[in-house]
Amino acid sequence: MEELRAKYIEAISQAADEATLEVLRVQAVGKKGEVSLAMRELGRMTPEERQIAGPRLNALKDEINSALAAKKEALADAALDERLRTEWLDVTLPGRRRPAGTVHPVSQVTEEITAIFADMGFSVAEGPQIETDWYNFDALNIPPEHPTRTEMDTFYMHREPGDNRPPHVLRTHTSPVQIRAMQAQGAPIRVIAPGRVYRADYDQTHTPMFHQLEGLAVDRDLSMANLKWCLEEFFAAFFGVAVKTRFRASHFPFTEPSAEVDIQCSWEGGQLRIGEGDGWMEVLGSGMVHPKVLQAGDIDPDQWQGFAFGIGIDRIAMLKYGMPDLRAFFDSDLRWLRHFGFSALQVPTLQGGI
Ligand code: DAH
Repeated sequence: MEELRAKYIEAISQAADEATLEVLRVQAVGKKGEVSLAMRELGRMTPEERQIAGPRLNALKDEINSALAAKKEALADAALDERLRTEWLDVTLPGRRRPAGTVHPVSQVTEEITAIFADMGFSVAEGPQIETDWYNFDALNIPPEHPTRTEMDTFYMHREPGDNRPPHVLRTHTSPVQIRAMQAQGAPIRVIAPGRVYRADYDQTHTPMFHQLEGLAVDRDLSMANLKWCLEEFFAAFFGVAVKTRFRASHFPFTEPSAEVDIQCSWEGGQLRIGEGDGWMEVLGSGMVHPKVLQAGDIDPDQWQGFAFGIGIDRIAMLKYGMPDLRAFFDSDLRWLRHFGFSALQVPTLQGGI
């Protein structure tokens, strides 16, 4: 009995895991275990012998059982200690920063303008930034020798000698999208075309790349009156106040008649306010689409008329949000972007929730 006791108590204390403990339990106190078999021997003993051996065997069985239970608990504690040691977490560490970008004012203002014109039934059209000189000039009634071609300080794409493709330019305005949209959709049509345009120019109010938004509406009997209403609706929604406009006779090859449009503003105390005072600020070019331009867009000018306009997006962003220098728009200066950028959740709506 002493041998059995020594054997199992030692083995239990050495066991490295629960599976080993289970094997030991079966070997010692299981139905056919050594202690159980020894208990069966009791039947063959004399009553005197049994009185001594019985209680001792029972005590041995209890001792082994409690050694098993104690070891099992010790193994579980050790496993827990190990987990606590490896899976610790320092809850006093500062939280991780999740830097959120901002929406660039040009993107924001483009969205705002698009929302306003979408409400008036205009859809968005697009065209390539690298254009043929036909789309950028000829189709818009700007002939080859016209001074505008150089006045606009056009960037021409390089051509190898012997390259017979038509000359390509970085588009100098969004007006070529008028032609592409007319060709693709026919009349009637109502589109706006926001996008990048390029001219070799650089100072406080000019950058070689900037943004324009073109508008075009063609229908059976459109007039300057429709253009004026449309633009005044737009200014009121965009600036959040009713804005007086002034149409000044002007000249563009692609419109006849043509008008430059000024909006009412005041400069009191060096502060620009749109929709107040008796000052004027030029914001866009517009007019009735020239018959030759309709023709270039495969639309019959005897059947249809249209109006068109072109706005500088950057410029009216500067006006609305008080940004003084255009060049800062494209410097990628994080401080500027954080200051003037918009939250992605500031979704522009027509109802003035901007
Ligand atoms: N394309 C002209 C520019 O870049 C702007 C413009 C003027 C567009 C009159 C038009 C328009 O659609 O009708 O200066």
